[in-house]
Amino acid sequence: MWWLLVLLVTCLFYYSRNRLKYFSSRGVCTLPPVPLLGNLTAVTFGRENFVEAIAAGYDAFKDQRYFGLYQYLVPTLIPRDPELIRQIMVRDFNSFADRGVHIDADCDPLFGRNLIMLTGSKWRSMRASLSPAFSGARCRSMAPLMAESACAVIAYLREKISGEEAMDINKITMSYVNDVIASCAFGFAVDSLKDPDNCIFRLGKKAVVQDTNQVMKFFGYENMKSIMKFLQVKIIPTQDAEQFSQLFKSALKARRENLVKPRPDFIQILVDAAQEFTDDDLVAQAVLFYVAGYDTTANLIYYFLYEMAINPRVQEKLHEELDGLPPDEDIEDLYEAVQGLEYLDMCVNEVLRLWPLVGSADRRSVATYDFGPTYPGSKDRLMAPAGIHVWLPIYSIHRDETYWPKPHDCIPERFSKDRKADIVPYTYMPFGNGPRHCIGSRFAVLAAKVFLVKFLRSYKTRADRASPHLSPRAFILRPRDGYLLYVTPR
Ligand code: HEM
Repeated sequence: MWWLLVLLVTCLFYYSRNRLKYFSSRGVCTLPPVPLLGNLTAVTFGRENFVEAIAAGYDAFKDQRYFGLYQYLVPTLIPRDPELIRQIMVRDFNSFADRGVHIDADCDPLFGRNLIMLTGSKWRSMRASLSPAFSGARCRSMAPLMAESACAVIAYLREKISGEEAMDINKITMSYVNDVIASCAFGFAVDSLKDPDNCIFRLGKKAVVQDTNQVMKFFGYENMKSIMKFLQVKIIPTQDAEQFSQLFKSALKARRENLVKPRPDFIQILVDAAQEFTDDDLVAQAVLFYVAGYDTTANLIYYFLYEMAINPRVQEKLHEELDGLPPDEDIEDLYEAVQGLEYLDMCVNEVLRLWPLVGSADRRSVATYDFGPTYPGSKDRLMAPAGIHVWLPIYSIHRDETYWPKPHDCIPERFSKDRKADIVPYTYMPFGNGPRHCIGSRFAVLAAKVFLVKFLRSYKTRADRASPHLSPRAFILRPRDGYLLYVTPR
């Protein structure tokens, strides 16, 4: 039997060596890959976040328009030139309409049906049906629901904190965002700080589990889809999927039968508008809030409070702006009040530049594509058949000093009215770009701002030291060293 194993390993090794010549044989720069693991050795062994693997190539090939990276054996192209990024995301969207990872509904019925995974005409019609749920008008009507959840957090903190206190910020941001999603998407009012055992919080936390195992499942689907399908590997375990399904279907039924008063929430949009979809399709879109919106929004709030903690002058300036607001009870239109806070908006933009929670967006070509010369004037150019994977290097480009002087410093003034126009197009895209940009960006930013206004009017944050390292065990950006900040009442 041993000879069979030797034969298998030898074949794999040679197959791998040939696959790993894809870029070099076409004149495209790439860091030296390792057999079978490509350029993801440190990611696989939990030593770095995958945006750091992208950054290594991005920083090494400064004069190139694009470079190559191997996700294990899959050649993946990373564009560096903002104009090429525009072409891929916007101008030639029809050639890049799909994402790199694709999980079928027959393999994972809940995850495979959500908007992120859909392709072709199904994606187009679902995107069109869901878009009104995220319009400015809808978000405005959700602002009071968000404020209720933020007030519950402040009430909890008033009981807990009298002087400076070291706090696990993750605990309050996860509870807040869970309550906002429960309220705005599912139509349930919950207070997860008072009642951490509520079923929606328990399920939500499970849906966003990000550990090496979960990260590997996504890479598995991107690299060896047929094997993952054969093994029926699921992103959301069956039991959790069924519980989510029951919860959401009972909420849908109650709305349809007018058992509860209509509320300005996501579920009402689905009840009113989306006749052409099955209930299973609708459940998958509600779960989307957890899959795409929970961890990202909660970590945005954390990174914001962290940047305030290590940049006291920025925090002071923001406090001055917030102190100019009338008392809570005199604010008639919270949405308008929040939208009018210019410096808060500049700070949110800057935090999203430093910490774009989704550090890379993915695409897969659906037609042959000419990526043009590898650098201006080069004779080498990549003409790739359909199926080439592309990772858009959001995190790297946001910290590229060509476009952002002092790229690691928090300078909200970069986003002032006068200076905004200087930003080079396609060098700032925390929510992606083009027709597949993040559908929930407005919702996420508003939810974060409502929380931050309530929180920072009453508290300030401080940190002992900067802790800029990223957790290697997550797809999104998360702090490696935990969420501890000092919080003091003002
Ligand atoms: C701070 C919070 C968030 C950040 C930084 C973020 C960022 C992103 C990015 C970078 C993409 C990829 C865009 C592209 O490929 O061009 C994306 C896609 C997406 N996001 Fe968000 N997101 C956030 C919150 C949310 C929320 C609250 C939702 C609500 C449901 C959401 C739903 C989605 C969906 C559905 C997609 C896929 C869209 C499609 O393929 O058509 N996101 N997000």
